[in-house]
Amino acid sequence: MTSIVVLGSTNMDLVAYVPRAPALGETVTGRSFRTIPGGKGANQAVAAARAGAEVAMIGAIGTDGFGAQLRATLEHCAVDTDLLRTVEGPSGTAHIVVDDEGGNAIVVVPGANGTVTSLTHGDEALIGTADTLLLQLELPLPVVVEGAATARRLGVRTVLTPSPAQPLPPELLAATDLLVPNEHEAAALTGLADPRAAAEALLRDVPEVVITLGAAGSLYAARGAEPVAVPAPRVRAVDTTGAGDTFVGALAVALGEGRPAPEALAWAQTAAALSVRREGASTSMPYRVDIEAAFRSPDSMEAD
Ligand code: RIB
Ligand code: NA
Repeated sequence: MTSIVVLGSTNMDLVAYVPRAPALGETVTGRSFRTIPGGKGANQAVAAARAGAEVAMIGAIGTDGFGAQLRATLEHCAVDTDLLRTVEGPSGTAHIVVDDEGGNAIVVVPGANGTVTSLTHGDEALIGTADTLLLQLELPLPVVVEGAATARRLGVRTVLTPSPAQPLPPELLAATDLLVPNEHEAAALTGLADPRAAAEALLRDVPEVVITLGAAGSLYAARGAEPVAVPAPRVRAVDTTGAGDTFVGALAVALGEGRPAPEALAWAQTAAALSVRREGASTSMPYRVDIEAAFRSPDSMEAD
């Protein structure tokens, strides 16, 4: 079993399902509302655990009712939460609208996530036991940089999802083994709209890049090799929230198990495709058996 530590956010997602998202100053009537455990860090943790890794999470929840629910969800998904701090105040929340096409718009309020500003000795020791450290940008940037640098020093592979998009400090890129932006983040980081050109530019800073392209699949690029485009299975999207996190969690598992990159991308895309067919982030993430079955017969996904 590959072992993964996630240094990242835990949010309660407050999701309104709407025919279409409102414009500023407009009110629309929603169809339904759900609270669903999310946060890019916790999502990647749950995705990796369900995909078959041993997973531990470093981050923080608040003392509100959401915090207890978020911890319980992670534990229920077999994610080790011993180093998930509980801090006075509200948990992180994400205010999400999902429209009839399955697209979303999200406002994240960090809450407890914002208190994670540095690593403890315990955090460092835990990172040292992992094969892979997963990072995103929903914790304060200094701790993300510290986490990546610590992993690098300890010989642990680092995978960074540069989301929400923001400029990346050179010391973070220098400690990143694999960068996984979506096409918009790749364009924001490089100023290049074409994913192949963006990937090439990013390879100056990191040795490996995967750019996710939504329904069009993903693009793998490594220094000194031809980029490989991997198409995604076709599915009807109900809710794409957390699809990118599902992809990254599953990708880390597949790479950690030593699968070659193109196969690992295809496997992770199968996981992400399964997740967009159902509502929510963590609630929609597939288990390893389901990923394996769909990976072997992709047509089965289109049928149901
Ligand atoms: O990537 C999806 C996640 O982004 C949601 O679960 C929400 O919590 C936001 O952090
Ligand atoms: Na989903």
